[in-house]
Parts: sequence; structure tokens; C-alpha cells
Amino acid sequence: MKSFIAANWKMNKTISETGEFLRDFIPLVKDVTDVDIVVAPPFTALSAAAGAIQGTNVRLAAQDIFWEEKGAYTGEVAPGMLLDAGCTHVIIGHSERRQYFHEDDAVVNRKVRAAKKAGLGVIFCVGESLGERESNRTFEVIRREVEKGLEGIDADGLVVAYEPIWAIGTGKTASPDQAQEVHAFIRDILGKLYAGTAEGIRILYGGSVTPDNVSSLMACKDVNGGLVGGASLKADSFAKLVCYKKEK
Ligand code: PGA
Repeated sequence: MKSFIAANWKMNKTISETGEFLRDFIPLVKDVTDVDIVVAPPFTALSAAAGAIQGTNVRLAAQDIFWEEKGAYTGEVAPGMLLDAGCTHVIIGHSERRQYFHEDDAVVNRKVRAAKKAGLGVIFCVGESLGERESNRTFEVIRREVEKGLEGIDADGLVVAYEPIWAIGTGKTASPDQAQEVHAFIRDILGKLYAGTAEGIRILYGGSVTPDNVSSLMACKDVNGGLVGGASLKADSFAKLVCYKKEK
């Protein structure tokens, strides 16, 4: 299966910083054919990024979406607007959206539906907090997030990202065993939701992925890629991640 590595820049980079990054990054990964490479700049830089990646092997994602097509929703961005800006993908249900903007499973599900209807690929995020892990609720939380978030959704263009909240931006990466355990569990749930096609759904790991730990994570059977925050902000670092097979 082709792996999938996405840069989640969160609230970082201006338009000119985005341009600089892509100027440096694109030549470093131009020969990569076995990884789907995606960058997710903030909304304001999407259109400029779309211009910069034209004709390259880099694809564009937004970090969020709203489910209505247009109307009186101050501050929101519609699926069609993301397509118009050049996006092929969108990140939905990131734990920072769930935590700071109170997005629950129902909201996440509406967003996934709207994105899929518009023809966008979806990077659908799930993950447990430290408290949930420590109280042995990891599997219960992941099951709920996957089942509710993907209710009524088909598997086409779907990528799932497992991001343990305790590993995001903390430098504490899940061990390969911890990641594989949850990824296998997610694969199992997907198998029930999408009999026959679950094996083809990419499951990304996210949470303090770096050029140093990417190979050991990618070596896990059910880890098919990464969603990378901090280590994706520098072109050489993200290029090393994308070229993880060469770095070994
Ligand atoms: P991190 O973020 O790589 O900085 O831990 C990952 C994410 O939140 O997608």
C-alpha cells in the first residue's frame, strides 16, 4: 500500500513563509513516488500553496471545513471553497478542534459527510487523552470516535489518523508497539464498517513524529503513514520524513 505523509502546520506560516517552504521542499521530494505527500497550511495560505505545488507530487489539505455549502456562517469555510482554493484533502476531527472548539463526534461526522460529498479526501483524526489511557479507556474512546465519526460514511478517499493526545507536540511519541496495538484495533473496527475494503484504508500515526523515529513507526504492520506537526515546519525535516525509506 502506498504510504501517506501529511504536514499539519496548524496556526503557523504566512503566505510568504509557505512559499519559501515549498520552494525548498518540492525539489527535495520530487523523485518520491511511493508516498502520497500532503501539506496543510492555514486557510490564508492555501491558494498561494496551490499555485506553488502545481505540476508537482505534493497535494494540498485544509485543516478544517464547515458542512454548509454557503450562507450566513461568519468565519466558516465551505467545502466548495476549499476545492476552489486547490485542496484535494481536509483534516477533520483533530484533537485541537475537539478540545478548543468543542467539536464532538456529531460535528465531526457532519464535516466528514460534507467533505466527502464535495469530493475531498478526508484525513479523519481520533485519539485518546493521557487520562483516558491511564484509566484504560483508550479502546472505548477510539471505538466511539471511529464509529460515530464515520457513521454513514463510505471508505472512498478516507484516511484515518491515530493521534494520541498525550503525544501531540509533547516530544513523547507512542512506542511502535503502542501505535501498532491501536492501529490494529482501528483496522478491526474498519473491517466491520467496510467489509472487504478496510485493508486498503491508510491509517496514519501522529504525535511527535520526527525523522529519527519515523522508520520504526512505519515498520509497524498497520501504520501506513504519518500526520506530522512540529517536524513538518522545516522543509529539510519534512523532506527527511517523506524520504524515510532512504534515511534508514
Ligand atoms: P506533532 O503534531 O507532530 O507536533 O506532535 C501532530 C499533530 O497534531 O497532527
